Amino acid sequence: MYELLLVCAYLLGSFSFAIALSRYYGNSDPRAQGSGNPGATNMLRVAGKRLAILTLLGDLSKGLLPILIAQALDYSPQQQAWVGLAAVIGHLYPIYFNFRGGKGVATTAGMLLGLYPPAALLALAVWLLTFSLTRISSLAALSSVPLCLPLLAWQQPQALLPVSVLSVLLVWRHRNNLKNLLAGNEPNFRE
Ligand code: G3P
Repeated sequence: MYELLLVCAYLLGSFSFAIALSRYYGNSDPRAQGSGNPGATNMLRVAGKRLAILTLLGDLSKGLLPILIAQALDYSPQQQAWVGLAAVIGHLYPIYFNFRGGKGVATTAGMLLGLYPPAALLALAVWLLTFSLTRISSLAALSSVPLCLPLLAWQQPQALLPVSVLSVLLVWRHRNNLKNLLAGNEPNFRE
């Protein structure tokens, strides 16, 4: 049963709200525009606020829903964290899109919300603060992750391994953003 939940979480995570919403509303594929990332930030760039918010909520629910199911089935915090990680891995490496997915920030936020809401609130606060100062979404994400994931691991030490894997994956998926940030040419939402 647990293995089935892991597989279902991965398959759910593989669904791309950015791509599905773009197709449904007749917009161009977000993978071919802006940063090329099928996520809420790029949807804000290329498709506007409404579809960006829908993408954010959809991607967040992909992380939250499997955790809520794992909790309802009384799995341990560590097992819940692996389920959340499976959903995020689905988002990063989706089976339906040749394993080319997004960067996992919103899905991780949903996972955090289910596992330990204070960590999700901290992540949100740091994200909002960084974004309001810099108007750079990737920097906001990369600032909030190092604070909220260790907080979760400290509160739920059994979840340390999945949370560590998740942290490495998130930084890896932002490697181009990091290069741009270091070079001073990461796009922002100032203009
Ligand atoms: O949540 C994704 C964000 O951290 C970066 O997205 O499109 O600016 O590469 P993007």
